[in-house]
Amino acid sequence: MQPILDHLSPAWSHLTTVQPVRGEGIYLYDADNTRYIDFTSGIGVTNTGHCHPRVVAAIQKQAANLIHGQINIVVSPAAIELSHRLNEVTPDGIDCFFFSNSGAEATEGAVKLARQATGRQNIIVFQGSFHGRTAQTMAMTTSKTVYRAGYQPLPGGIFVAPFPYSYRHGWDEETTIDWCIEQLETLLKSQSAPSETAAIVIEPVLGEGGYVPAPDRFLRALRDICTRDGILLVIDEVQTGFGRTGAFFAVEHSGVQPDIMIMAKGLGSGVPISAIGASRELMAKWQPGSHGGTYGGNALAAAAAVATIAVMRDENLSANAARVGDRLMHSLKELQAEYPIIGDVRGRGLMIGVEFGPSAKPDKMAAKKTQQGSVSRNLLLLTCGTHDNVIRWIPPLVVTDEQADTALSIFAEALADASQ
Ligand SMILES: Cc1ncc(COP(=O)(O)O)c(C=O)c1O
Repeated sequence: MQPILDHLSPAWSHLTTVQPVRGEGIYLYDADNTRYIDFTSGIGVTNTGHCHPRVVAAIQKQAANLIHGQINIVVSPAAIELSHRLNEVTPDGIDCFFFSNSGAEATEGAVKLARQATGRQNIIVFQGSFHGRTAQTMAMTTSKTVYRAGYQPLPGGIFVAPFPYSYRHGWDEETTIDWCIEQLETLLKSQSAPSETAAIVIEPVLGEGGYVPAPDRFLRALRDICTRDGILLVIDEVQTGFGRTGAFFAVEHSGVQPDIMIMAKGLGSGVPISAIGASRELMAKWQPGSHGGTYGGNALAAAAAVATIAVMRDENLSANAARVGDRLMHSLKELQAEYPIIGDVRGRGLMIGVEFGPSAKPDKMAAKKTQQGSVSRNLLLLTCGTHDNVIRWIPPLVVTDEQADTALSIFAEALADASQ
């Protein structure tokens, strides 16, 4: 690493040492004005593109008027407006909101809410899950050991059920779903009794774990099990939310009604903010004062989020994600047919995973070579997956057809090099 980074903690890994001084739409620019295509969206955050003028204007205006209206002391109009705007865009039944700063913090909050509301303690998560890096959310994260190693013992009461990852299992989707439901039922009979289970927490598209959409039938089965057993269904939309998958929230594709929704990343277009949504009735079971934080719902972040939602709606970014996502998916499948190192291409909207290697033999090297080849051509792409063999396509939702095609042709060159 460069000496210039000597005073930054090495706990941060770095894909590049690019030092952008400016961002605009899908692009980042360094001090020499070198342009980078950011198809990482800062890990799924800049859904409205870097520095969308309306979001910037809202932040500037709010900063000039009020930055921090602490919510236990006063209630900033921006926080109130955000709760109303979220009520309009979240699924029916989600009408009451709690604000925090990060996805992990919101996930911890959702678990606390579920435990107090049900009087039960256990939480079920899925193999490959990523819910954050705080103690509680580390215990709920099973995508890679690196997130947990050296930190045991982690908080208890977390149980892990298999996620319907057909490609990894090497089965067809229906067989995989049936098996996963059966395993979950077994878990509820053998490890965590329903009477002890507060919540089932799931990402509607497994993110860090490999960009694997949960099939609609599986989500509907979870809903039925939760309703039958009085368990709360918690949908983690931290990465899938805010138009990413072609709907405002990924769970909408299945028609499933969540009990609790977790949002972050795309919500603030880069200003840290997260939210927990539930029904007012459920939220009323949360003991006042038993959860909180200094910054949650602060005026600046709330204003950024209000502007983000307005841009998302006015520019119809979910529809653009669906349309450009289809185009990308089609082209990536064509590349799969040409390059046998690609084993699978899957996803929803602009959340697409390209998995390298056959299902029984994940090929991390091929993924890394292709990623590095893309990065050396100034196309920023991230990997994911337990075996780190999946390249994720997660561009800002403002991306155009032409920009997607440019990125694809760079990727194809890198792929050709990696295939040699
Ligand atoms: C699905 C999901 N949940 C939770 C988190 C944690 O969010 P944060 O990094 O803001 O704490 C992430 C982060 O990548 C995520 O993808």
